[in-house]
Amino acid sequence: MTAPQFLTLHELVKKARQKLNHDNWDYIVGGAETETTLRRNRLALDSLAFRPRVLRDVSHIDASTKFLGRTLRLPLVLAPIGGLELFAPEGGGAAAKAAQQFGVAHMLSSVCDPGLEAVAQAAPDALRMFQLYTRGDAAWVDAMAERAIAAGYGAFCLTVDTAYYSRRERDLAKRHSRSGPMPQREFQARLTWSDVARLKAKFALPLILKGIATAEDATLALEHGVDMIYVSNHGGRQLDYGRGAMDVLPEIAAAVGGRTPIIIDGGFNRGTDIVKALAAGASLVGIGRMQCIGLAAGGQAGLVRLLEILEQEIHICLGLLGVNSWAGLDRSYLHPAPPVSTGAALSAFPLLTLEEQAFY
Ligand code: FNR
Repeated sequence: MTAPQFLTLHELVKKARQKLNHDNWDYIVGGAETETTLRRNRLALDSLAFRPRVLRDVSHIDASTKFLGRTLRLPLVLAPIGGLELFAPEGGGAAAKAAQQFGVAHMLSSVCDPGLEAVAQAAPDALRMFQLYTRGDAAWVDAMAERAIAAGYGAFCLTVDTAYYSRRERDLAKRHSRSGPMPQREFQARLTWSDVARLKAKFALPLILKGIATAEDATLALEHGVDMIYVSNHGGRQLDYGRGAMDVLPEIAAAVGGRTPIIIDGGFNRGTDIVKALAAGASLVGIGRMQCIGLAAGGQAGLVRLLEILEQEIHICLGLLGVNSWAGLDRSYLHPAPPVSTGAALSAFPLLTLEEQAFY
């Protein structure tokens, strides 16, 4: 067996940076306006230390989990990302195939090539979910839900934190526009809870709301019969000056009280980050930018390698905490602590050096 090309996560980041042009790199790492929400995602995670327990037999670690009736090798979902074709020619197909090969869940964005039917064909056995940006009226949304059901998707997700497209200054400063006029975007701004009620009444497919950031909205979601709460601030790419996702989780976990699974994303770049989320009550963690980085570094194989390294980090973390499965973990393993970094999209990789120039 040959030695793997990538031994650490930061090597994958470095390779991705080498392969991408500046516009596509900025598309991955950027956030909205001051990028405060983006930084807070990392700071929230960096502000938690572990309280490890010792002298328990941890010679066998099982980091798998059950989700939507399936067994996943890790409690991860590849978060919905628009435009994955910018990073790997097969786009969403490459990500879904990596999810299938490794054994994690996949959520396809409605603005990702080659589209929901082709991605379903590329990875028929993956646990696939479909995320929609609303670009039409109720009949248009229903038609998309029907296509997702016909193509075998296991859940339907509405992203609800994107009523307006944010100002991404990395793009604006370079005159690189992704946010040009798009009249259909108005449909996203018009969404209300009555649309959620309508979808729940019409379709049996489990419904997820992505972009929940308060206990109040989590409670409303449960009252509307939503099947899963997806805690997210869109990786700091939408509302600026939001709270870090991990800071939001405790109030959501308290409001949900175990009645539905909770998915969370935003800055989860290391195995330890994922362990913190599960200890604080999440069922599944979404991988956003790191998914783009894995694909850009080495396509499907690069993404699988990234998941392998995360798995090693998770196994070691669990073992050193004195637990051998997720069932043994709870909030007592976490403790507040001052962060040692100032938080940035890639601050989880202290050994990373990128040859960056001033572009703005
Ligand atoms: C996203 N995100 C996103 N979310 C969504 O619901 N639909 C989409 O099409 C996209 N597109 C997208 C593109 C890119 C390049 C990024 C980085 C992110 C948000 C994504 O699903 C997720 O919420 C965040 O990326 C999670 O934060 P991290 O893991 O990137 O820190």
